[in-house]
Amino acid sequence: MSLLDKFSAAQQLKSGLENAGKDPTSVVFEAINSATEAVVEGRTTILAGTNNYLGLTFNPECIAAGVAALESQGTGTTGSRMANGSYTAHGALEAELADFFQCSNAMVFSTGYTANLGVLSALLGKGDAVLLDSDAHASLYDGCRMSEADIYRFRHNDMQGLERRLARLEDRAGRCLIVVEGMYSVLGDKAPLAEIVEIKERFGARLLVDEAHSLGVFGECGRGVAEAQGVLDKVDFIVGTFSKSLGAMGGFCASKHDVLALFRYVSRPFMFTASPSPAVMATTREALHQLRTRPELRDSLWSNARRLYEGLQSLGFELGPEISPVVAVRCQSRESALANWNQLLQAGVYVNMMLPPATPGGASFLRCSISAAHTAEQISTIIEKFADL
Ligand SMILES: Cc1ncc(COP(=O)(O)O)c(C=O)c1O
Repeated sequence: MSLLDKFSAAQQLKSGLENAGKDPTSVVFEAINSATEAVVEGRTTILAGTNNYLGLTFNPECIAAGVAALESQGTGTTGSRMANGSYTAHGALEAELADFFQCSNAMVFSTGYTANLGVLSALLGKGDAVLLDSDAHASLYDGCRMSEADIYRFRHNDMQGLERRLARLEDRAGRCLIVVEGMYSVLGDKAPLAEIVEIKERFGARLLVDEAHSLGVFGECGRGVAEAQGVLDKVDFIVGTFSKSLGAMGGFCASKHDVLALFRYVSRPFMFTASPSPAVMATTREALHQLRTRPELRDSLWSNARRLYEGLQSLGFELGPEISPVVAVRCQSRESALANWNQLLQAGVYVNMMLPPATPGGASFLRCSISAAHTAEQISTIIEKFADL
């Protein structure tokens, strides 16, 4: 047995994907025409799997802000904020996020992934407990594993399971963090946050909600599912990403607890990686401004999401449980998911292929994520191409 033998499983996976057609990890966008259209293998392709919920990646003001920052501050920060210091924009964005979430503190990370690693590994330690929803994103799981806390998973959105596990912790419930997402990324279903808040308060536990897919999508002001369910002020830690509705890159945590300010001294994924570049900070700030001032983006997003969900539902596809900007089509088998994904790509529609084990219930899905920037014609074409499957 050699060090490299373990890769035979990955090689098998790769070969399996290639035998079914194109390997999804090898898709190249040769040109990006807009937030919703690219060129793949010379074909004009509708992008229906990019998490570009508000369609801001080609927004002229965001681009202008990024270009101005590139020209005035250079291409990168070339180090961490601990070692190299902060740029004005880092602190400005943190203040804007704190204001947006009506929290006393916010902290910016280089990606959403490192935000989850950084917050969870700082917050949790030996002797603490974490209750993690079984459908939670890999970054949340990895963050929990980075800490030395005891990890207990509860069945997805199962409130009785959550309560049972908290009760079993007895005196340790006060040292417990519940970790869930606002909207879940694969099926587009939501956490019952109001119920979770009631439970966590009863047991004296704390709550972290990852609003990666909910920022700009839910809530009257686009703050996420916690706002939509009226419990924003009860959530202890909100984490999220700039890489989806804000069309940039980076992650954040906002909290009403002043202790968040101290994470800067202990959070290794914050301290030991380069800070976000000036252009990324500038486009993120402008996108956040647009999210706050253009609620019509959310209206377009929801009307597109509704059209796609209802269109695919009327064709008889088995979809996620509720209308949302993530529309997941359940496939009969892994083989049919691979075949259908390839057929859609050939027909000029790019969606995400979601295969077990990274999926709820070990099922295979074709996952669409819808954008405010999709046109009515693009939505109709996506539905037509699904009808052809
Ligand atoms: C729920 C959730 N959290 C965190 C992340 C990580 O975000 P980022 O892409 O900014 O690293 C993702 C990305 O897919 C996600 O779906």
